[in-house]
Amino acid sequence: MIADVVVDLQYGDCGKGKVSHLLCEKNDYTHVIRYNGGCNAGHTIYHKGEKFVTHHIPCGVFYGVRSIIGPGCVVNVQQLFKEIEELQEKGIDTTGLIGIASNTHVITDFHLVEDKKDTSIGTTKRGNGPAYRDKYDRKGVRAEHVPELEDYIVDMYKELYENDNTPYSEVKILFEGAQGFGLDVDWGDYPYVTSSHCTVGSAVLNGVPPKCIRDVWGVAKIYETYVGAKPFEGPEPVFEEIRKVGEEYGATTGRPRQVNWMDFDMLKQAVDINGVTKLVVNKVDVLEKVKRWCLYSGINLFEFTKLDDMKKWISDELYDRHIEIMFSGNKDSI
Ligand code: IMP
Ligand code: MG
Repeated sequence: MIADVVVDLQYGDCGKGKVSHLLCEKNDYTHVIRYNGGCNAGHTIYHKGEKFVTHHIPCGVFYGVRSIIGPGCVVNVQQLFKEIEELQEKGIDTTGLIGIASNTHVITDFHLVEDKKDTSIGTTKRGNGPAYRDKYDRKGVRAEHVPELEDYIVDMYKELYENDNTPYSEVKILFEGAQGFGLDVDWGDYPYVTSSHCTVGSAVLNGVPPKCIRDVWGVAKIYETYVGAKPFEGPEPVFEEIRKVGEEYGATTGRPRQVNWMDFDMLKQAVDINGVTKLVVNKVDVLEKVKRWCLYSGINLFEFTKLDDMKKWISDELYDRHIEIMFSGNKDSI
């Protein structure tokens, strides 16, 4: 068994959807598995030139690959069916491809009502926090107990280890993460975090041994964005410009994302803690358009006169990590 993991190194919205979609096109995965989060996520994917935003459904469906919502996720049944319908309407045939792990927890109407009351964190109001709370409080509802989901339920062990179509040794998984390191319930800026684990460890919890992990694709942006209640945006007018040029508005809620320069020290931590082997730094085209290239490290703000200098600085600082670094300025390629 082999597994590649896509993990976000900042606050989500760094382009995991794009990277997962490209990896899926280039590799012969047998499964794509979402390993954390729920429909708080919004993955923007350009497939054959058309824009899609997925919340629950892993990107395997675009290439006819089995796509599973893993036990680390929480699922909103109505949203899931709505998403399946939208994909079908736009010509993506999901028949027989989508599975939900029997032990995935569901987001109930009660969770939604509760999350709507949040004012302190700035959640997406999708019921995530209350659903995970009830899971850990042992009061939750598992997908296997929801009759509407019957046709989709899979036993993760059978799916991965006793699968009639794919012998164990031929299983090749792409783990598609949600949210990011800065929102991780343990490593993020608590309490301004989501309620799930957003690191590579979270993928392993979905039923795969650590030794199977091949590549960890860390995804970042050349600047940072964050959506939520804490003050995050820098004072300079350039951030407003970056928001416009970079189309930095939430894919799930439409909220304007707060913008700031890259926090390189956090990026380095996220690279190390996730064991990143391939690093994709997206949206370099945006800084090219606003013509400012800055990052924070320690107490310093470094300003560069051109993109190449910034790229070189980042590459030099990560040199001893021996990872492949790719800078991308394109919506549908790396
Ligand atoms: P929750 O996950 O809806 O509880 O929200 C907790 C925090 O995580 C809030 O600051 C949200 O804006 C943020 N968040 C949750 N999901 C995403 C995402 O997919 N992208 C970016 N931010 C997210
Ligand atoms: Mg997103």
